[in-house]
Amino acid sequence: MVKVAISPINVGHIDDVQELRKAKTTAIPRRFVRDEDERPSLAIAIPSFTSSTLPVVDLSKLVRGSKDELQSEISKLAASCEEWGFFQVVNHGVDLGLLESTEKVAMEFFRLPLEEKQKYPMVPGTVQGYGQAFVFSEDQKLDWCNMFALGVEPHFIRVPKLWPTKPPKFSEIVEEYSGEIRRLCQKLLGFVAMSLGLKKDTFEEMFGVAVQAVRMNYYPPCPRPDLVLGLSPHSDGSALTVLQQREGSSVGLQILKDNTWVPVQPIPNALIINIGDTLEVLTNGRYKSVEHRAVADKEKDRLSIVTFYAPSYEIELGPIPELVNEGSPCKYKRYNHGEYSKHYVTNKLQGKKTLDFAKVETTYTS
Ligand code: OGA
Ligand code: NI
Repeated sequence: MVKVAISPINVGHIDDVQELRKAKTTAIPRRFVRDEDERPSLAIAIPSFTSSTLPVVDLSKLVRGSKDELQSEISKLAASCEEWGFFQVVNHGVDLGLLESTEKVAMEFFRLPLEEKQKYPMVPGTVQGYGQAFVFSEDQKLDWCNMFALGVEPHFIRVPKLWPTKPPKFSEIVEEYSGEIRRLCQKLLGFVAMSLGLKKDTFEEMFGVAVQAVRMNYYPPCPRPDLVLGLSPHSDGSALTVLQQREGSSVGLQILKDNTWVPVQPIPNALIINIGDTLEVLTNGRYKSVEHRAVADKEKDRLSIVTFYAPSYEIELGPIPELVNEGSPCKYKRYNHGEYSKHYVTNKLQGKKTLDFAKVETTYTS
C-alpha cells in the first residue's frame, strides 16, 4: 500500500461494531444508518438471478486440461470477465487446509478483546491495521464491519508493528497464505492474458514486483440489516482480487449487474475472483471492474479474506495498444499506478467514482 502523507483529519468517534453487538445494542447509531437510497432494501427479492449464476472456472482444466478443455475454459473466463467482472475458481490448487487455518486465525484475531486488537490501530486516513478504512470525515456513513488489513508484498510496504503477535501463528499463516494466493494470481493473470489474445506473460512482464495486500473483513450480525451496509459500494483498485469467505457465513457479497444488486453465495472451497480497476484500464474497458458491496445479516456473522494484487507502484499504465481500435477507442489515459493507488486510498469508497481519475474525457483535479 502507498505511504500517504496524512494531515490530521477529524473522523470523530467510530463505534466498533463487534462491541455494539456485544452490548446487545438494538438502536443503530446514527452514523451507520444509511440514507434511504443507499439502504439494501432487503424486502425486495432478486427475481431473475440466483447466486449459482456466478460463472465457475476450473483452473485444473486451464493448467493441465486437453487442448479442447483449455479452449472452452478460456472462453468461459473471457465471458465472465466481460459480462460479470467476477467468477469463482475451483480446483485452484491452494491447499484447503491452509484456507481453513487462515480463516481460523482471522476469527481468533477478531475474537480478541478490543484492547488487544487496538494495539494495531488503523490510523484514520491510512489503510493498514485494525479498524475502519476509507473514513475521512465525521459526517461520512460507516460500514457495519471490522477490518484488519496488511500490506504484504513487496516487503517495503509492510508495517511490521501492525503484524499481530496474537494469535501466535497469525503472521506465519498469513505469510504462507499470501505466497499461495500470489502464485494463484500469477497463474490466473496468465490465462486472463491468453483470453484476450495476448502473450501469456504480458501482465507478469508489465507489472514488475506486484503489490499485494490482504484485508480481513468481519461482519457481525446486525439487529437492523435493512438500515446499514456491511461495506460501501465500490470497485477494487487492484488488477485482480481474490476473495475467500468462511463457510457457514451469511450471504453478504452483492455485485451490481444490469442495475440490480445480485447476491453471491460462493460454492464450497471455491475462491471468488474479480477484475479490479487496473485490468479494466489495461483492457480498455473490455474486462469490467464491477461495483460490489456487502450487506449485513440479522442472525449470522460473516468473515471474508480478501487479497488485492496490483502492479508495482512505479509502472505507467494505460490501455494495451492491441485492445484499442476503431470499434473500441481509447477510454483511459496513461498514468502512474502509484498515483492511482494513492488516489484510491485517499478517497472514500463511492461506487466506481475513483476510476474517473483514469478516464480520458474527465478533467481530473485533485
Ligand atoms: C473488499 C470487498 C467484499 C466482502 O474487501 O474489497 O469487496 O464480501 N469485500 O467482504
Ligand atoms: Ni471489493
